[in-house]
Amino acid sequence: MRFNSLLISSFLLVSVGLTDCRRTDPRSRSYSGVERLTNVRSRNSSNWAGAELGIDNGAFFSVIGTFTIPEISGPISSDVNVWVGIDGDGAGGTCGDRVLQAGVTIYGDPANGHFDSYAWFWWFPANAVQFEISNFSVGDVIGLVVGAPVNSTYGLAMIENRTKKQAAIANLSSTYALCGQTAEWIVEASLEDDEPLANFSPVTFTDVRAYTHDGHTYGPQDATILNILNGSEVLTSVSVSEDSVKIEHV
Ligand SMILES: *[C@@H]1O[C@H](CO)[C@@H](O)[C@H](O)[C@H]1NC(C)=O
Ligand SMILES: *[C@@H]1O[C@H](CO)[C@@H](O)[C@H](O)[C@H]1NC(C)=O
Ligand SMILES: *[C@@H]1O[C@H](CO)[C@@H](O)[C@H](O)[C@H]1NC(C)=O
Ligand SMILES: *[C@@H]1O[C@H](CO)[C@@H](O)[C@H](O)[C@H]1NC(C)=O
Ligand SMILES: *[C@@H]1O[C@H](CO)[C@@H](O)[C@H](O)[C@H]1NC(C)=O
Ligand SMILES: *[C@@H]1O[C@H](CO)[C@@H](O)[C@H](O)[C@H]1NC(C)=O
Repeated sequence: MRFNSLLISSFLLVSVGLTDCRRTDPRSRSYSGVERLTNVRSRNSSNWAGAELGIDNGAFFSVIGTFTIPEISGPISSDVNVWVGIDGDGAGGTCGDRVLQAGVTIYGDPANGHFDSYAWFWWFPANAVQFEISNFSVGDVIGLVVGAPVNSTYGLAMIENRTKKQAAIANLSSTYALCGQTAEWIVEASLEDDEPLANFSPVTFTDVRAYTHDGHTYGPQDATILNILNGSEVLTSVSVSEDSVKIEHV
C-alpha cells in the first residue's frame, strides 16, 4: 500500500494506547441538513465543519490528512475534535451507522483552567480507543491515516507527531465492514449543554487524499462542504484546494 510504505517507513513506531476515551462520543452527530450526498455541494450541520467526499460505488479504503494543533479559546468546558474518517456520514450515505476515524480531541479542563488533548481512533460501534501519544502542543504537526487496505473488516489507524517524527499505529478489526462510501476531514464541536462553539485558530488539513480500491486518488476539490450552523448563524467557513481543506471559526 502506498500510504503504508510512504508514511510508516519514515517514522518510529511507538506503542498503541488501549484505554477507552474518557470524553464524550466524538462522533455524536446530529445534522440539521437532511439531504443525501448526491449532487449536494454544501450543507449545514449542527456540529461538523469540513469536507466530505462521496462516491456511489463505495470504494474508499484509506484517508489521510495532516494538520497543525490549533489554538483553542473560549468556554473551558467545550472541546474541539479534529479527525479524518471513512463512512462517517451514515445520514447521507446508504451504508448505515459505522465509521472508521482517527483524530485529536482538544478539551478544556475546568479543574486546571487550560486545554489538554489526546488522540484516538474509532471503528464504530466498538469503543473509541486512545492512542498513547497525547497532550499535544499548539503548533504540533499531526499526520492522520485510517484505512482498511486488506479487506473491509480489517484496518489500521495511525497518528504521527511529524514535528517529533514519532507515530502510533493500531491494527483494527470490526464486524461492521466499511462500505467506503464517504471520506471526511472534519472539525467537530461537542456543543454540550448549549455551550457556544469554542474559538479555534484556523485548522488546515494538508496532504489531503482519499484512495479507492480501484486505484483512484481523490483530493478534496469535489467534496461537499459542511459548516456548523447555530439557529440562523453559520459559525464556520470552509475552503478547499486541490489537496487542502481549511476550516475557520468566523
Ligand atoms: C446554511 O444556513 C445559512 C443560514 O440559515 C443559509 O444562509 C445557507 O443557505 C445554508 N446553507 C446551506 C447549504 O443550506
Ligand atoms: C499537558 O501538558 C501541560 C503543559 O506541559 C501540563 O500542564 C499538563 O498537566 C499536561 N496534561 C497531561 C494530561 O499530561
Ligand atoms: C510533538 O513534537 C514536538 C517537537 O518535538 C514536541 O515538542 C511535542 O511535545 C510533541 N507532542 C507530542 C504530543 O508528543
Ligand atoms: C480480513 O483480513 C484479515 C487479515 O488477513 C483476516 O484475518 C480476516 O479473516 C479477513 N476478513 C475477511 C472478511 O476476509
Ligand atoms: C499490524 O499488523 C501487521 C501485519 O500483520 C504487523 O506487521 C504489525 O506488526 C502490526 N502492528 C501492530 C502495532 O500490532
Ligand atoms: C447558539 O446560539 C445560542 C443563542 O445565542 C447560544 O446560547 C449558544 O451557545 C450558541 N451555540 C453555539 C454552538 O455557538
